[in-house]
Amino acid sequence: MAVLEIEIMGAKVLREKASPVDVVTDESRALIRDMFDTMYDAEGIGLAAPQVGISQRILVVDVAEEEVEERHVHALVNPVVVEASRETGKETEGCLSIPGLEETVTRPLQVVVEALSPDGEQVRIEADGLLARALQHELDHLDGVLFIDRLSSLKRGILLRKWRKSRGRS
Ligand code: NI
Repeated sequence: MAVLEIEIMGAKVLREKASPVDVVTDESRALIRDMFDTMYDAEGIGLAAPQVGISQRILVVDVAEEEVEERHVHALVNPVVVEASRETGKETEGCLSIPGLEETVTRPLQVVVEALSPDGEQVRIEADGLLARALQHELDHLDGVLFIDRLSSLKRGILLRKWRKSRGRS
């Protein structure tokens, strides 16, 4: 088990567009295992490779939907949203890279994501609910986008000032 250090907002790697993975290798699979370890250790439901300082298009999610007693565990390489519903919904989001900050974010309610599995197989996931939201949040990380970027600039400004203050920075 290897728990990696999680990059916090301000780190350059969180703002970079991550590179596609050419071939899924044992090294990729080792990274994926470490990402799961890191995510569980931090009690998160999703994690993207840039959050552990690796600018590659890899994400992991483990989303439990208690009402329907379903659990969705996925590790995705080079994920792409191929369809998104026109209908959107608002839910509160947080991010392991912005500890202590939560806000309501509007996103499409359903998405279809295509990716490679850790075995290098093509996979297609039709997601709704919390899984759809978590996948979109983690996919954003691969493009250097944080959930606060999806808020109005006014709201973002207020939240960032508060967040920096809470972290002892001006
Ligand atoms: Ni995040």
